[in-house]
Amino acid sequence: MSSTTNPSELPLAPWARRLAPSAIQDMLQHITKPGVFSLALGLPAAELFPTQGMAEAAARVLAEQGGALQYSATLQPLREHVVALMAKRGVRCSPQQVFLTTGAQQGMNLLARLMLEPGQAVMLEDRVYSGFQQVLDPFQARRLAVPTDARTGIDLDAVQSVLASGERPAFLYTMSDGHNPLGLSLAAEARERLVKLARDYRMPIIEDDAYGFLHYEDRVLPPLRALDEQWVYYVGSFSKILAPALRVGWVVVPEPMVFRLATVKESSDIDTATFTQRIILAFLDSGKLEGHLVRLRQEYRLRRDTLLRALETHLPKGASWTKPASGMFVWVELPEGNDTTALLARALELEKVAYLPGQAFGVQGGRSAAHCMRLNFSNCEPARIEDAVARLGRVLALARG
Ligand SMILES: Cc1ncc(COP(=O)(O)O)c(C=O)c1O
Repeated sequence: MSSTTNPSELPLAPWARRLAPSAIQDMLQHITKPGVFSLALGLPAAELFPTQGMAEAAARVLAEQGGALQYSATLQPLREHVVALMAKRGVRCSPQQVFLTTGAQQGMNLLARLMLEPGQAVMLEDRVYSGFQQVLDPFQARRLAVPTDARTGIDLDAVQSVLASGERPAFLYTMSDGHNPLGLSLAAEARERLVKLARDYRMPIIEDDAYGFLHYEDRVLPPLRALDEQWVYYVGSFSKILAPALRVGWVVVPEPMVFRLATVKESSDIDTATFTQRIILAFLDSGKLEGHLVRLRQEYRLRRDTLLRALETHLPKGASWTKPASGMFVWVELPEGNDTTALLARALELEKVAYLPGQAFGVQGGRSAAHCMRLNFSNCEPARIEDAVARLGRVLALARG
């Protein structure tokens, strides 16, 4: 395309005409600049990738499997490994209920394509993973946003009253562990009540468990899918526990959904890269995942604790934040009236520190989270976390002054 093309002349559908670069796309430009202290994106720690184990797995695949680079069917033994992983999360399922996807993101996308009529309603929290809203855009889905509290999570009274008013959303999207952006894990009673609401009102739930294996406390609750296999559609991923560049995730769904998922997926990317499926399979066969997960949890726990301590030291009075038991994020709330979107430019300019403003997680650009910010702790080494938060503290002090 020539750079002189007028965007209004592009042959776009009306919904695509309204698209703007996402907060993540914007942020990438900033944090790749030298010297920036980034607490912005949800990247895993690159230095913790199991590079050696992956290299050995890839070499084995290429040496031993003649068809490794050919088109091939999805790998059944990998689905069996996923079943075993799900058992560790307290979920019982069969390999026939597991469908491998190109990451959790595609899992949600394919489910939406099967479950959502254009213009239909979807229920979601008013602080929500922005990638999920991108899934909804082409469907022009009506968003039924319910409040969510940084400490207690989705407002179940609000869910109930929306359903009791007669609304029948195609599904509810939520995260019960490692909530992005809140860093929250839902209490056991809340999980039970949410699943009961889904059953009573026959409303499917898409449960995004992208961070479910990254937990840092002794008490770990099973996800919603452990409580109901008919109404909860589970989305999982190898991105955060192995590496996102592999682009492999999975969904656990009722068996009759599986061939339908395969059919819509085929129309888009044929299959999840079978080469990386084979590498993951060889890695899992080598029995190295468990030790790797122990190490990840140890290191991320340390980074979380470092971030929480630094917030105590450097953030001004009136700020509050979540203490995540899982995932990669802490959610900070400043007193109402602060505008973290406006503040970001100063944070970058004056202190070279980056975070994601709360507005990036508002529903359809809603500004109810304009005084909030999301901080990531997985992608920054502890010494840098301390420095980054000190910088953030100075920016906030300046803003107050
Ligand atoms: C909540 C949530 N869901 C899904 C994804 C996408 O994960 P994947 O790399 O498996 O597509 C992310 C990525 O950051 C995420 O934060």
